[in-house]
Amino acid sequence: MGIFSSSAGLGESSVFKREEVLLTEYVPTMLPHRENQIKQIARNLLPAAKGRKPQNTFLYGPPGIGKTAVVKHIFREFEEYSEHVRCVYINCWDFRTTTALLTELVLDLGLFVQRRGWSKDEIIGKLTEAINKRAKGLIVCLDEVDQLDLSALYDLLRINQYVMSPVGIVFISNNPYVFAKAEPRIRSSLGLDEIGFKPYNLNEMKDILKERAKDAFRAFDAAVIMLCANHAVNKGGDVRVGLQCLLKAGRLAEREHDQKVRVEHAKAVLKSIKEAKPQILKERINEHEKIVLRVLRSSKKWSAGKLYKKYCDTAKKDGIKPVSDRALREFVNHLQAIELVKISEKKVGKSRLIWRA
Ligand SMILES: Nc1ncnc2c1ncn2[C@@H]1O[C@H](COP(=O)(O)OP(=O)(O)O)[C@@H](O)[C@H]1O
Ligand SMILES: [Mg+2]
Repeated sequence: MGIFSSSAGLGESSVFKREEVLLTEYVPTMLPHRENQIKQIARNLLPAAKGRKPQNTFLYGPPGIGKTAVVKHIFREFEEYSEHVRCVYINCWDFRTTTALLTELVLDLGLFVQRRGWSKDEIIGKLTEAINKRAKGLIVCLDEVDQLDLSALYDLLRINQYVMSPVGIVFISNNPYVFAKAEPRIRSSLGLDEIGFKPYNLNEMKDILKERAKDAFRAFDAAVIMLCANHAVNKGGDVRVGLQCLLKAGRLAEREHDQKVRVEHAKAVLKSIKEAKPQILKERINEHEKIVLRVLRSSKKWSAGKLYKKYCDTAKKDGIKPVSDRALREFVNHLQAIELVKISEKKVGKSRLIWRA
């Protein structure tokens, strides 16, 4: 029997009641210390249930403090509460352009549109039809909206002229200033209610992790929560760090055939768990951007021209067709926007310098 026979096997886990509760994507039914924000957002969206115009809302604040979870939680409850309302969640990392976004909305509402080849007006026509057919009230969440081409906002607002009940939008970003670059006219027609999310303090983090641990584990030492919460707060306040600690401690306890997650398990895994942000970002950049980061790994500063050459060489070695100089410039700008590289603009005529943040 191979490598799998010595592990816990397929039977019930001695440690976990429901391991999936500790995954980042899991949306808990209770979100301690976000009650006020939840109430405020729900109040803003409620008019949609009666076919009236919801209040557009903008949530901002550092990563890992419940912005996405709060909206997903509200969306789930709202669709249960009102059969007329449809709530669509979209992460703008996956749909960065106007057409990509509008197409995704149509598909989400269950009408057909081709991913490529349709004009914007055709897609908007389809979307209008979809909204009027499928949803008396439509709420859209645009998460990580800093990744979206802001001109998409113009088209989204335009749709309200054609539909029977206005669309409500919830925007989310780590960056409070994303809308600063949008035209003032668009900003004022968005009419945003802004809600800033603040990081949790140690006690709040403890409450949150304790609730998740109670659902996930059969038994655990109280001090496990203390250790993991402390680590998460020290590493920047991202709840995902705390959840990772709990999951890893649980898995270690399981490997050791323990019935309970103990302080020793938590202590043993803490060091291996770092801040969550950089890893997550790196998974979401494209292959060309990944090559740029690899080239920039050596700590020197690169001129744009040299970087492009080295990028082309590396790409070819990897069997990837290099993009044009101009296209790569856009990718480098994107890496700068998400703070993975730094760029110094030099005087006119001189090349800019690029290095790793
Ligand atoms: N108040 C809370 N109660 C329970 N879990 C929370 C709470 N706040 C955040 N989380 C959990 O922390 C993780 C990160 O939260 P998320 O909403 O993705 O952060 P953000 O969108 O602000 O970056 C998710 O697994 C989420 O369920
Ligand atoms: Mg989020």
